[in-house]
Amino acid sequence: MSKHTIEANPVGPINGSPEQNAYMEELERQLTVDTEKLIDIKNHFITEMIKGLNKPNHTLAMIPSYVEGRLTGEEKGHYLALDLGGTNLRVVLVTLEGQGKFKTISTKARVSDELKSGPMRNLCDYIADCIDTFLTEQNLGNVDEDLALGFTFSFPVLQSKINRGILTTWTKGFNCSGAVGKDPVLLLQDALLRKHVPVKITALVNDTVGTLLSNAYQKPNTLAGLILGTGSNGAYIEKMSNIGKWEKENTTAHEMVINMELGAFDNERTILPLTRFDNKLDRKSINPHSQIFEKLISGMYLGEIVRNVITDMMDRNLLFTQPGQSTEAISAHYQFETSFMSSIEADGSKDLSTVREVLDTNLNLTNVTDVELRIVKRICELVGTRAARLAGAAIASIAIHTKVDRQGADFGIDGSLYEFYPSFESRMYTALAELMPDYADDIRNIIRLGLARDGSGVGAALTACVADRMFKTV
Ligand code: GLC
Repeated sequence: MSKHTIEANPVGPINGSPEQNAYMEELERQLTVDTEKLIDIKNHFITEMIKGLNKPNHTLAMIPSYVEGRLTGEEKGHYLALDLGGTNLRVVLVTLEGQGKFKTISTKARVSDELKSGPMRNLCDYIADCIDTFLTEQNLGNVDEDLALGFTFSFPVLQSKINRGILTTWTKGFNCSGAVGKDPVLLLQDALLRKHVPVKITALVNDTVGTLLSNAYQKPNTLAGLILGTGSNGAYIEKMSNIGKWEKENTTAHEMVINMELGAFDNERTILPLTRFDNKLDRKSINPHSQIFEKLISGMYLGEIVRNVITDMMDRNLLFTQPGQSTEAISAHYQFETSFMSSIEADGSKDLSTVREVLDTNLNLTNVTDVELRIVKRICELVGTRAARLAGAAIASIAIHTKVDRQGADFGIDGSLYEFYPSFESRMYTALAELMPDYADDIRNIIRLGLARDGSGVGAALTACVADRMFKTV
């Protein structure tokens, strides 16, 4: 069984005190998105997609990526890729071998909180140094011609060319000064020039677009690429004729990849069933009122929503009330990580020994009662299930809008949540079957979700390759 198909083990009845039971029933009511509500959300999502395709600067930005046409799987060559926007910064050397095959060599580096919120120039200098070190290690430091690099920059960028764009806002905890309103390619290229690193950035790509391309390299019927990880987003292939806001030069292409920036869906708060726990998270985040959908479905936030519920119960004397219980760790922001939820949901033991261990080891919560273990597990289930169902609604919207028929389509997905969170995929399928009842009998063969490995690395290389192809045909 691959990691992304590991199933959760639902907890049975809580059997707590009447107050605890009542709280949990009310919580379940608030965090459950039933079929009817999910259909409303899906309908609104499709309406918003169409608006975003037709008018600039809409909430659902629907950004043309300038990646035209489809891949054949026969693309070949050596490309450098740079991936910024996930957990780590990565430099990758990709060799495309044709027939959907590739090899990669890569290096990872951490981006410190200081770099994430300092001047953009410092971040670019750091990245240039990382690239320089990698090239030296790979004996690529002394080349006659600059090496072509595909830059996966996983933030909302309004593109104006395949290698140009303007950062509209930071997301996912980044907040460097001197970057919003500027072109990240020019900023990084400047650092590379200053440091004499022989690299030319030829493509700028969102991670979702990269994921779509890397999936398409192996599965030509790929319709969309999604990231369900620290952040969440999707890209899909749209007909040029549907992109009403496209005013640029004529293109002979009939299709273009659209970066949806779906994390911003419903920033207006008209349809999503937000609870006080979500509002609290939003208010205390570095980007209040934005990325509302992302905050309900992504790895960066799910643990914090769970923690908000737990602390609310603690305030009402419904959880961790034993004298001497140390509640310092659980009281601090972002101390309950989404990875804890994965371990907790997977725990199928009778005595919930993993749940106990997670609470003890990571949060110093000891002498936890069985009822409390069940409560914590149930909170994780509710928050995790809601996330997967909402993500499923986004996927259904893409499929319905693009009129997927019974032949079906491939959806490449990357990201820690999809890869490691138990039942995330099967919960998405349940939602998809509810939202596409005509296909419910064969949903897994029609909406073919699959893990797209290294969309950011291989996808950036493929985009650099598409950029070559486009430049050669003008
Ligand atoms: C955030 C970014 C988006 C990216 C996603 C996944 O939503 O705004 O560009 O694709 O995270 O990394």
